[in-house]
Amino acid sequence: MNDFPDGFLWGSATSAHQVEGGNTNNDWWDFEQNPASAARWSSGDGIDHFYRYADDFALLASLGHNAHRLSLEWSRIEPVPGQFSRAAIGHYRRVLGALAGTGMTAFVTLHHFTLPRWLAVRGGWLAPDAIDLFTRYCAFVTDALGDLMPYICTINEPQMIALHGYLEGYHPPGVTNPALWRRVGGVLLDAHLAAVPAIRAAGGAQIGLAVQLPLLDGPEPFLGLMRHEIVDRYLDGLAGVDGGDWLGVQYYRKQWVDPTSPFFFAPPPPGVPVTQMGWAVHPDGLREILHRAAKTGLPLYVTENGIATEDDTERIAYLRSHVAATAQAIAEGVDVRGYLHWSAFDNFEWSEGYRPKFGLIAVDGDFTRHPKPSAHAFADLIRQGTLP
Ligand code: NOJ
Repeated sequence: MNDFPDGFLWGSATSAHQVEGGNTNNDWWDFEQNPASAARWSSGDGIDHFYRYADDFALLASLGHNAHRLSLEWSRIEPVPGQFSRAAIGHYRRVLGALAGTGMTAFVTLHHFTLPRWLAVRGGWLAPDAIDLFTRYCAFVTDALGDLMPYICTINEPQMIALHGYLEGYHPPGVTNPALWRRVGGVLLDAHLAAVPAIRAAGGAQIGLAVQLPLLDGPEPFLGLMRHEIVDRYLDGLAGVDGGDWLGVQYYRKQWVDPTSPFFFAPPPPGVPVTQMGWAVHPDGLREILHRAAKTGLPLYVTENGIATEDDTERIAYLRSHVAATAQAIAEGVDVRGYLHWSAFDNFEWSEGYRPKFGLIAVDGDFTRHPKPSAHAFADLIRQGTLP
């Protein structure tokens, strides 16, 4: 018996700034170096993936993955406004060529949290020409690399960029302003909707958006307001327009909202077990949000799902229970076509630095990779195509 449709994509995900190393020309780097910011660590050398990508892809393919998600670093490709770097494009051609050479299907994110410094300086997503600048970058990249990008993701987690950067202030630009939070959320949705036709015109293949969809709980009517701002606004925004060809669903946890808590989120109730990030594990939430995402009518891919833990047996349990929730959604009729675990490697977890361990593969001080038991458990699950 197979719980997953033919051609189901299995793999894992990373993003450029979290693994490449040496991304010194973006807003995140500046945030990390600023002692007044919420970030206490520097991304530094990442996990040296910029140089080790070929071995990394070979390792993931050897673990049975047939897909891999990664992102391109905008600040490398366009280090100065309007001047695109041939060296950076050459680098990413080699990266995506090596990935294709392993037989894994590429999911390529064009914007995963980091903005070129020059754009951040002129206001980031609030700059009047931010959407035009983003679509120009998307069109350029598609033109240059489109043949190597079967799945293109415009923006990673627009809601989290808005929430963490403009309400909670622990991502750049470190603002805590509810009105700007809502405004930036709208700008990011518009940026996606503007990028879709630009990417199509440049010959882009399957275009999608990756949204984080937490399962929310809390008192009404506040719960409804937060659900609108964080979930429904984005799903509804893709309806009735050309919102792309697929939707990436990213799910980690259940969250409690509370109008009296700082920035409107309450910690999990006492007694609820939490991860290294303080997040509450709730596998059935993935099944529930896949049903909600299915209302867009788009084919779905789980483009992120994972747990920060030092205890790899906990990761194996998390992985199995969330893959089971995915299988159940499929059995109930939801069109889910892939599952990409976050993350391939332990890496730079933004303001939390290198402390949280999300990887299937550990990375030691000299950057040697060590697959964990969970990497092998995932390989078994992929091979069998069914749950134990
Ligand atoms: C979502 C983000 O896309 C990714 O960059 C981050 O590391 C994980 N969630 C875990 O927080």
